[in-house]
Amino acid sequence: AAVAATAVQEAPAASPAPVISKEVTVLFGSQTGNCNGLAKKLSKKLEEQGLQVTLASMADFKPNNLKKLQNLLLLVSTHGEGEPPDNAISFHEFLHSKRAPQLEELSYSVLALGDTSYEFYCQTGKDFDKRLEELGGKRLAPRVDCDVDFDEPAAEWMNLVLGSLSSASAVPAAGIAPGESVTTATESDYSRTNPFQAEVLENLNLNGRGSDRETRHIEISLEGSNLQYEPGDSLGIYPENHPRLVDELIAAMGWNADESIAVNKNGELRSLREALLRHYEITVLTKPLFEQVAKHPSGAALNELLASGREQELRTYLSESDLLDLVTDYSLAVIPAGEFVSFLRKIPSRLYSIASSPKAFPDEVHVTVRSVRYEAKGRDRYGVCSVQLAERVESGDRLPVYIQHNSNFKLPESPDTPIIMIGPGTGVAPFRAFLGEKEETGAAGETWLFYGDQHFSTDFLYQIEWQRWLKEGVLTRLDVAFSRDTDKKVYVQHRMLEKSRELYNWLQKGACVYVCGDEKKMAHDVHSTLETILQQEGGMSPEEASEYLLGLQQQKRYQRDVY
Ligand code: 2AM
Repeated sequence: AAVAATAVQEAPAASPAPVISKEVTVLFGSQTGNCNGLAKKLSKKLEEQGLQVTLASMADFKPNNLKKLQNLLLLVSTHGEGEPPDNAISFHEFLHSKRAPQLEELSYSVLALGDTSYEFYCQTGKDFDKRLEELGGKRLAPRVDCDVDFDEPAAEWMNLVLGSLSSASAVPAAGIAPGESVTTATESDYSRTNPFQAEVLENLNLNGRGSDRETRHIEISLEGSNLQYEPGDSLGIYPENHPRLVDELIAAMGWNADESIAVNKNGELRSLREALLRHYEITVLTKPLFEQVAKHPSGAALNELLASGREQELRTYLSESDLLDLVTDYSLAVIPAGEFVSFLRKIPSRLYSIASSPKAFPDEVHVTVRSVRYEAKGRDRYGVCSVQLAERVESGDRLPVYIQHNSNFKLPESPDTPIIMIGPGTGVAPFRAFLGEKEETGAAGETWLFYGDQHFSTDFLYQIEWQRWLKEGVLTRLDVAFSRDTDKKVYVQHRMLEKSRELYNWLQKGACVYVCGDEKKMAHDVHSTLETILQQEGGMSPEEASEYLLGLQQQKRYQRDVY
């Protein structure tokens, strides 16, 4: 069972009840598309109840219209260290600025998506909820915070909101069941909550012999699923934990691998080994898990780290440890399996940026996955999904998959718009999809790719394809940065700076910029480099450059798929 969502009532019981009318605005802020999907589903339900719904991304909403709203529903996720998703940044900034209007007439509610393994859990949702209250808004339902497994709490929140909005309309509220999909005739039956068992067609290592890296190119068949996608979308894969880790955990706890364990609310039973392999997360520790174990009589020693003033120590411990560390560090071997498993989160799916154009590869989807392997505290550690794909999946095997649509990373509407693509390492994946699509559709707009990795000879992912596209004119320019072939490191942003004049010219003629890959270091440095280029070539002040980029983001001319 996942950690239950908590409905948070920060306001004293609101009285009198807010006046409710039949117009409602639904705004979402979403990086990977989850809030986007939920917002669509909610809007559909609201419309079915006769409400007049305006649905928009926070980036598309004109903040000046805020004063006119009566009912506002916000669905928003949180990123990194408590930051809003890209398409929520400017709305978040506006609301927290002096320009934000008083909103005494407003009724609102917030659904916050997050991950309890992060310190600033659901922070962006909390920010909006608090700020709207400060501005005079009244909650029509309390905020609900959702952990990674968000379907149930999100459905509960929607039912609350539907109930409270429809009490003003004649139509009785029709509830939403968790995981219920909003399929229309042309849509697939398969979704995140009902993944398709897809056959693996190919599984190749893209790196050459002698490379420090292992990057898998995996081709998967979608035949018979009716799953559709566009370049820029992601593939969700439900992974399995490493059998060795599962066995070591069972041994450390002295559990019986064949013991029957319930794996969901309906009480479906699996063997303990199977449950730990496929159903529960054992590689990530969260604070709620730590707290639950601490409440157990044999977990009393954990309370030390929960003491006030030790938050940072606790965070460090959580981020560096897995379940096996926890049970060995704290000698938890007396807790029965059934009880322990009830503390665990469901194993979450992993999202990979799709590397294929559906036009070039009908009924297939390709992903580019770098194996995550490292050593910590004297033990080998493996990325759950990436190492499963590298070591335990071959062609002919099946994987539970679904498509995660991502409207925040899409080719420009006009085929003539030039595009600049920055994607070192596996960040290059969606650009293989972009160029494949451009080749198939004959889109005329110019294209420029910045790619980088450690070594030219072993790490130039999809080299042959870029070179063919260059020759054929699908790719106009290619700049590469191999960081470990020279004494001094060169990264994609160094190449961008070398070409700053031309880059600036491309921006001036309306180019769209796409960044994919590592968020903390690469995407951050690339962003600063774009600011530098704007100052250097466009004579802008630092503030103007940063405003310019925010403007590009709003116009969807600067899109990021970063992780
Ligand atoms: P490095 O590993 O040699 O430091 C893909 O992972 C490529 O991104 C590698 O060449 C890696 O270089 C590089 N990289 C590491 N940090 C980066 C940063 N801050 N900006 C851009 N590229 C970076």
